[in-house]
Amino acid sequence: MELAPVHPGDRAPVEDEEGRQGERLQKVLARAGVGSRRVVEDMIDEGRIAVDGKTVLVQGMRVDPRTVQISVDGSRIEIRNDRVTYAMNKPYGVITAMSDDRGRATVGDMVGDLAKGLVHVGRLDQDTEGLLLLTTDGELAHRLAHPSYEVSKTYMAQVSGSVPRDLGKRLRHGVELEDGPVRVDSFQLMDTHAGQSVVELVLHEGRKHIVRRLLAEVGLPVTRLVRTAVGPVQLARMRTGVIRRLSRAEVGALQELVGL
Ligand code: URA
Repeated sequence: MELAPVHPGDRAPVEDEEGRQGERLQKVLARAGVGSRRVVEDMIDEGRIAVDGKTVLVQGMRVDPRTVQISVDGSRIEIRNDRVTYAMNKPYGVITAMSDDRGRATVGDMVGDLAKGLVHVGRLDQDTEGLLLLTTDGELAHRLAHPSYEVSKTYMAQVSGSVPRDLGKRLRHGVELEDGPVRVDSFQLMDTHAGQSVVELVLHEGRKHIVRRLLAEVGLPVTRLVRTAVGPVQLARMRTGVIRRLSRAEVGALQELVGL
């Protein structure tokens, strides 16, 4: 008998009961909640489904759901059921850790046993609120948090003081901090009232306390900080302390953003 070598990273092919490789595309998409098999067949006829970037032109295609990238109407969607990604509106005072030996409240406590193997994507300070992603997909977590992928994050900061006219220009140009320069992608003054201002900033880096340090450096100490978006995922109207599972389209958009 011939012994086929197995290489590191090789995957066992998926076969059905009759020994045919892969799973029917309609079945994979129906399982992912795109629509019934009948509806998915119609969508294929209408040219709305693409596999690995190519529009599917015929019925009956078989795919390996672990490796293909599927788009519906041009938007990538997550088709696997064995990975989950959540968004949490982290409350003030909770530390970004799955557990803590000093007995402090953690996001791990809040998540409980929702899904095995959940990890938080990057960190928010204990006194920062807002959008924190958690996922069982280790590679997605790694890429979203890694500086080289330059995932943008949006923050709403309340600061003491009024904002000088040219601040946006200065922040976009770059401000020198002790561990190197930082630049924002965008800056907007949202409100000024009773000696406090609210500003929105978008940055694509995640150095420790970066927003607080940046704003302190320009003379505007932060009194409240809320993250409102990570890449395409929005905090929107989530109430504080709430967790929601991301849609397959939201996960697909995150995957696309980091080249998965
Ligand atoms: N910048 C900060 O200063 N704190 C956070 O939690 C996130 C970004």
